[in-house]
Amino acid sequence: MSKKYYITTPIYYASGDLHIGHCYTTVICDAISRFKRMNGYDVFYLTGTDEHGQKVEQKAIQAGKTPKQYVDDVVSKIKDLWKLLDIQYDKFIRTTDDYHEKTVQKIMEKLLANGDLYKDAYEGWYCTPCESFWTESQLKDGKCPDCGREVKLMKEESYFFRLSKYQDRLVKYYEENPEFISPKSRMNEMINNFIKPGLKDLCVSRTSFKWGIPLTFDDKHVVYVWVDALSNYITALGYLQDNDENFKKYWPADLHMVGKEIVRFHTIIWPALLMALDLPLPKQVYGHGWLLLGGDKMSKSKTNVVDPHFLVDRYGIDAMRYYLLREIPFGSDGTYTNEMLIKRINMDLANIYGNLVHRTLAMLEKYYGGVIPAPGASTELDEECKAMCEKLLDKCIEDMDKLDAPRALSNIMDVLARANKYIEETSPWTLDKNGDRERLGTVMYNLCEMIRVANVMLQPYITESPKKVFEAFGTPADKQTFESVVKFGGTIPNTQTTKMAPLFGRIDEAKEIEFLNKYSEDLAKKAEKKEEKKMEQPENTVNINEITIDQFMTIKLKVGEILTAEKVENADKLLKFSVKVGEETRTIVSGIAKYYTPEELIGQQVVVVANLKPAKLRGIESQGMLLCACNDEDIVLVAPIKRVKDGSEVR
Ligand code: MSP
Repeated sequence: MSKKYYITTPIYYASGDLHIGHCYTTVICDAISRFKRMNGYDVFYLTGTDEHGQKVEQKAIQAGKTPKQYVDDVVSKIKDLWKLLDIQYDKFIRTTDDYHEKTVQKIMEKLLANGDLYKDAYEGWYCTPCESFWTESQLKDGKCPDCGREVKLMKEESYFFRLSKYQDRLVKYYEENPEFISPKSRMNEMINNFIKPGLKDLCVSRTSFKWGIPLTFDDKHVVYVWVDALSNYITALGYLQDNDENFKKYWPADLHMVGKEIVRFHTIIWPALLMALDLPLPKQVYGHGWLLLGGDKMSKSKTNVVDPHFLVDRYGIDAMRYYLLREIPFGSDGTYTNEMLIKRINMDLANIYGNLVHRTLAMLEKYYGGVIPAPGASTELDEECKAMCEKLLDKCIEDMDKLDAPRALSNIMDVLARANKYIEETSPWTLDKNGDRERLGTVMYNLCEMIRVANVMLQPYITESPKKVFEAFGTPADKQTFESVVKFGGTIPNTQTTKMAPLFGRIDEAKEIEFLNKYSEDLAKKAEKKEEKKMEQPENTVNINEITIDQFMTIKLKVGEILTAEKVENADKLLKFSVKVGEETRTIVSGIAKYYTPEELIGQQVVVVANLKPAKLRGIESQGMLLCACNDEDIVLVAPIKRVKDGSEVR
């Protein structure tokens, strides 16, 4: 029976377009999966989308859609992108899939029943784009330490997961499984930055927005997105569902491949949740580096995104896959540059691979009418090339056991480069001129076989060219397995070859770079203009005539009682209030000084827009807005027509 191999990418935020940095994780996992499949493993490759959370909810409002409409559109684009890059996954999970939502609810029920959840009030700093909570001391210059963006102080009733309880067991697991967090440097980072300062219990439910999975035992709360998202790795396999065959077969995961910034979720929170559920832990979490652009992480918000559609359209799928897999040193960051992309295409794909294939086909045509000759006696030089080919499979297996695709590709390229050198060394045109048909036949056969061996080994990494080459050489594609390269000589003599279009044309580097630089400049200008427009039209403005009930429900209106009121110095129009809204007291600045005196408002009930982004007015942070009825002559505060409990929702 073949050994199973369960590999996952993180599930992608369904909050916008993906850039080639995102494609990096998926392409690596695809190459590993294809390699393992060819190496006899029963592989299950999972990817999908992370669709809940406040960020998605806000994006949907900005786009004038319901959250579900919004994610449906984004997910369909993401699926198209994976198709474009020839990603061969076994399952695509969406966190809005019914089975996932129900299972996450069951997971939360299980945690509650086991005593791993408790209710408390949460106060902390929240970064909406990262969907992460931070303590005061973790902030960097008062901003999110991961993305550098603004954080907001949140206080709400929440359920907590007893993460602290699992600290010792986690450390023990790391010690006993030194490969669990890879590369090793990331393990030290986790221990020094998170474990040593002491793990705190984790807030795992939210009440301040609705776009999430509700708790069955307290439906005011939705599940914290990271708990929802991490669970995908087991819900996708059928955990706690009627058909859990895949779960029994594939869990625990052999590899969670993730970018370095999300290692902490996968190596602390995820294993602790699994311990609480009494499930075996994944064998490895690999934190790969980032693809950088101009020294920074590519990111949509920094508008330095490199669009995979454009690149695939211009250079082809194989060039993109090859570049991502070959160029970025595995485990470390790598910088994207147009120069290196073009150089890689020219150096490796056009000069070494494409050139070898075309020269060989042309010589076969010229000397043998396109038919592959049978080999004769071998020389020492031939034996050296054969030995190199016969070692290639083992070398690649060794490299891929370390997940080192760049090295495996470099070894394959070495064989192709050796074949090019072999042509120079054996000089087939001289053999032809001298009428040495036997030697010429051997040389041509060996060249075809070297190409075949390298081509077999290239299949997991680039997916179009090997197929084209097999076809041109008349090689039956379904027989080009790893076993077929163990022994040199799998090419069948007397096979008719056919002409093929150039695999990779040589690109004029200088001209292309000029074109790309201009293209990037235009893109940057467009992005700048878009940004300016956005500034004119503040974020969260819903630019539509109608909103849906879901959109309306995202605006939190609450009744508050004015505790204090005073004039703001040097500001004729402004009054500063402290308003009691349920458990909390907020400072709110309002432009109603011309219509009310502070004294008459103390003790009054008002309606507060409670989830408005705080804004500074005359240096005072206003944490909300008071609703008013306005016309040309008057501004009147809106209030409930009879006294109600402050904090009551208005809807
Ligand atoms: N939704 C979470 C993951 C939840 S998994 C339970 C998430 N999504 S993401 O869309 O932001 O990122 C998906 C993957 O893309 C991550 O592995 C991330 O590291 C990777 N990349 C995003 N930008 C990248 C680069 N610039 N370079 C390399 N990989 C990068 O995180």
